Amino acid sequence: MTNATITGWGNCLPPTVVTNDQLAELIDTSDEWISTRTGIKERRLCHVKTSDMAHIAAERALAAAGVDASEIDLIILATCTGDTLIPNTVSRVQEKLGAFNAAAMDINTACSGFLYGLTMARAQIETGLVKKVLIIGAEKLTAYMNWKYRKTAVIFGDGSGAVVLEATEEDHGILATAIGNDSKGADFLQLPGFGTDMDRFKEGAGALTIVMDGQEVFKRAVAGMSQKSKKVLTDSGLSKDDIDLIIPHQANLRIIDAVVKRLGADPAKTFINIHKYGNTSAASIPIALAEAVEEGRIKPGSRILLTAFGAGLSVAAVALKWGDRVTPISTTDKDLPPCNQSFDELIAPALEYYEKHFKEE
Ligand SMILES: CC(C)(COP(=O)(O)OP(=O)(O)OC[C@H]1O[C@@H](n2cnc3c(N)ncnc32)[C@H](O)[C@@H]1OP(=O)(O)O)[C@@H](O)C(=O)NCCC(=O)NCCS
Repeated sequence: MTNATITGWGNCLPPTVVTNDQLAELIDTSDEWISTRTGIKERRLCHVKTSDMAHIAAERALAAAGVDASEIDLIILATCTGDTLIPNTVSRVQEKLGAFNAAAMDINTACSGFLYGLTMARAQIETGLVKKVLIIGAEKLTAYMNWKYRKTAVIFGDGSGAVVLEATEEDHGILATAIGNDSKGADFLQLPGFGTDMDRFKEGAGALTIVMDGQEVFKRAVAGMSQKSKKVLTDSGLSKDDIDLIIPHQANLRIIDAVVKRLGADPAKTFINIHKYGNTSAASIPIALAEAVEEGRIKPGSRILLTAFGAGLSVAAVALKWGDRVTPISTTDKDLPPCNQSFDELIAPALEYYEKHFKEE
């Protein structure tokens, strides 16, 4: 039987760090409030494009897999903050990689996007349609950030991560996947007025603000991630004790704790990096996955549970068995260009615009 297994991993975090204390200088919040409610201490702010971050994470994943870009059959870019809609953002990534033998598509299921991508890629590989897929999660959420709106400005950050998924006849790879979407909750997390909804001739139309009913999202995230996690455990014939590592979407430390508790799993088996990056949406799980390998948390044959929740409201879980290799075949020195602006300089145009156009209701 053909399995789909991860052979390469990589991530890319932009260099500008934004601490809770820096945000507390802009809005009425505090390091104490943000840390205790979310687990976030700092996040990253990207000075280049989403496609640039996606490209570097992908180069690192290809190097780790020892795969040349020309061998890739399909590239899936999960993002809700692409550079442009036409062309799609993955087209820019394909060009930067030189992966010209690949089909390529963007998908947007927000924070569940990377796991949706893994699910689609697995199906393509197991049915023999393709052999090597690059799946990338990349987000520049700060591009939509209203730095004057404390309910969401403290939550999100930028970054990217990628994996190479390959066909194998060996006994490892993706064991089970479960995806879903609860559109009855679509209004609980949204960026209103973007896309063709935008009244772009109205003054201030660019004062976009991510709005969220935090408590509704919280409840539904815990229920949805727990339910899909249980499903993939059942479908793969694993018990919670068989799982060596849980890598949940890093949205809120309290959500993660509640999901792990509902599963009855050992909290020590959970991978956490939300304190460093905040919620990076579709990039969150591949960023964490690459860190988990690098930190030795993933061992040959590790059984891993991934689960995510996001706008839509989308939900996903994946159970997998890692292969034999936990070291990269190769590395690359490709990186983002350096950033020569401070945080204050980077956000100055946005701050000025929101101060002029945004009125909190
Ligand atoms: C957003 C979230 C951290 C808010 O925490 P909460 O405990 O639910 O807080 P509430 O929304 O009830 O707000 C409590 C108070 O803090 C205030 N508050 C909100 N944001 C604040 C901030 N950044 N700093 C300080 N105070 C803030 C509120 O105005 C409210 O004040 P009030 O009691 O005077 O009205 C939490 O609901 C959450 O994380 N939800 C899930 C969000 C998520 O993960 N989204 C992405 C999914 S992919």
